[in-house]
Amino acid sequence: MNKLSVNHLLGIRYLEKRDIELILETATHFKEVINRPIKKVPSLRDITIANLFFENSTRTKLSFEIAEKRLSADILNFSSANSSVKKGETLIDTVNNILSMKVDMVVMRHPNVGAAEFLAKHVKAKIVNAGDGAHEHPTQALLDAFSIQEKHGDLKEKNIVIVGDVLHSRVALSNIFCLQKLGANVKVCGPLTLIPKYISSLGVEVIIDLKEALNWCDVAMMLRIQLERQDLKLFPSLREYSMLYGLDKELLDSLDKRITIMHPGPINRGVEITSDVADSKQSIILEQVQNGVAVRMAALYLLAGRIE
Ligand code: CP
Repeated sequence: MNKLSVNHLLGIRYLEKRDIELILETATHFKEVINRPIKKVPSLRDITIANLFFENSTRTKLSFEIAEKRLSADILNFSSANSSVKKGETLIDTVNNILSMKVDMVVMRHPNVGAAEFLAKHVKAKIVNAGDGAHEHPTQALLDAFSIQEKHGDLKEKNIVIVGDVLHSRVALSNIFCLQKLGANVKVCGPLTLIPKYISSLGVEVIIDLKEALNWCDVAMMLRIQLERQDLKLFPSLREYSMLYGLDKELLDSLDKRITIMHPGPINRGVEITSDVADSKQSIILEQVQNGVAVRMAALYLLAGRIE
């Protein structure tokens, strides 16, 4: 089996386990390619990809762009901040105008939940969701799974805890789907005001105490507090949050075992994680970013295989 079962990468929810395994296996091959002196392959020559970013991004935007260049695709970069969206143009008009320039694939980040799915229903191009509101961020979860696998081997029965602002996190939801499909045990930890009420329906337990959660896990994914998505005050202060749910070196060194620390970025240093933890040998934060390129190359390459 060397084909994905889906035409678009909208969310991990829609992928089968074998799709995830295929993307991760293909990423292993591309990781080897991008570590060669000549990093470019002709796989997507004659394919045009538009990167549409309606919300800020550093890692995802640059990672997709370099992945596309390594695959020899032609690329268009669009950022809503300096576009005709500011003059009132709708999403569908914006995208149809871009597609009329003969675009084959669209990578889109959008602040609204379901934006990528909406596009997939209305346009002909293959759509890759680069993050839609607090919903899904599939390529982040895939690169996270790849990074864990690289460090710990098979994910089956590995214990992963996701810590912090799970309520507003598309990274958390995509990771829960992805890690569970690969056989890992997933729990979340944080103040109950930042944990979605439906979490138990996903088969995910909540651990309130951070030290207990860290002693349970092999890998801790620390999440950023997403103040930009919080209309209500869901915890008293950042200082109190960081006292109860921030990970510092003293806590890390007091654990029963040596765990791996991950963070999707951007980091609020001193809030969810201190600098000495983020920059420690137990942190694989920069490996996650590095692996993002190979994983995105794999996802784009496999989706291009579904272009008729
Ligand atoms: N991890 C992540 O999505 O980072 P960016 O918002 O910088 O793309």
